[in-house]
Amino acid sequence: MQQNKKIENTDTTKNVSKKEAEFPLNRFSVAPMLDWTDRHCRYFHRLLSKEALLYTEMVTTGAIIHGKGNYLAYSEEEHPLALQLGGSEPQTLAQCAKIAQERGYDEINLNVGCPSDRVQNGRFGACLMGEAKLVADGVKAMQDVVDIPVTVKTRIGIDEQDSYEFLCDFIDTVVKNSDCDNFIIHARKAWLSGLSPKENREIPPLDYPRVYQLKKDFPQLTLSINGGIKSLEEAKQHLQYVDGVMIGREAYQNPSILAHVDRELFNEAASVVNTIDAIKALYPYIERELSKGTYLGHITRHILGIFQGIPGARQWRRHLSENAHKTGADIMVVEKALEMVTERM
Ligand SMILES: Cc1cc2nc3c(=O)[nH]c(=O)nc-3n(C[C@H](O)[C@H](O)[C@H](O)COP(=O)(O)O)c2cc1C
Repeated sequence: MQQNKKIENTDTTKNVSKKEAEFPLNRFSVAPMLDWTDRHCRYFHRLLSKEALLYTEMVTTGAIIHGKGNYLAYSEEEHPLALQLGGSEPQTLAQCAKIAQERGYDEINLNVGCPSDRVQNGRFGACLMGEAKLVADGVKAMQDVVDIPVTVKTRIGIDEQDSYEFLCDFIDTVVKNSDCDNFIIHARKAWLSGLSPKENREIPPLDYPRVYQLKKDFPQLTLSINGGIKSLEEAKQHLQYVDGVMIGREAYQNPSILAHVDRELFNEAASVVNTIDAIKALYPYIERELSKGTYLGHITRHILGIFQGIPGARQWRRHLSENAHKTGADIMVVEKALEMVTERM
């Protein structure tokens, strides 16, 4: 399978099965999240885990082709890094995929899960579940021009089209009409009207067994499960049935869980000894970005949750929230906030 990166497991002290000795690149990933998983966020997440696969926010093909911003910018340290594309027109997707490969991305992921009105108006996102052949054509068009894996992130259904057969037909059509062998399944359906994107992440019930069944029926595919997973213990349970686990909100709001990913899920040494060190390791990046004119608050908003549940967490949050936006705010704001945590230890 093109997606798999074999990681040799040298730790013989743990009871690790042969199967576990081969970890797919996306055994653990942090979900694409618009406005959240920007390049600053990803840089920080990478400090916490060497092994997690990181995803960009969704970037539309229109933004890449016509936009004025540098939507594909990232730091080399962020690898392995997947670009999530929003779009449906095969030739345009192919054009963007080519650019993404040239820019050094490790994977391209097509968004077939976002239910927002804006996205539906552009005929992409979750509504594409109803157009499986178009998804396949888009994936194929991308695969024809790049060597990196092209993956699809989707839901288990849309609106009234929520049977297991519908999901299987969707996957089957994409698989048969492209070389796609790697899907991430958000284990709830989406309502295309009547619910906001936020409600669509909370109200439709989660159905993990349906994703497990999909893996049984399509054993040749690399399947990752997503939705409502809150701990690495839960992640390990899911990994008994599927190949990968993707976590979104919990990883963002409580990023300290990422510091345990390498050890718990990859049998690798942890990237950082503790979260205090992770923040200190971010200092050079902050200094570098500030010198380029980045506003401190754009970085610190992603680190507010790192001390969740430990003494000083509230003071840390408050100090950063109240000061990082001020004109001239610099690294001293973060140093001061960190003291508020360390002096309570
Ligand atoms: C703020 C926010 C923005 C999101 N943006 C995207 C996006 O750009 N593309 C996408 O496929 N999913 C997006 N999602 C959905 C997540 O990728 C994920 O599927 C969903 O949050 C369920 O996983 P979780 O329960 O672990 O958070 C977003 C979620 C949140 C909370």
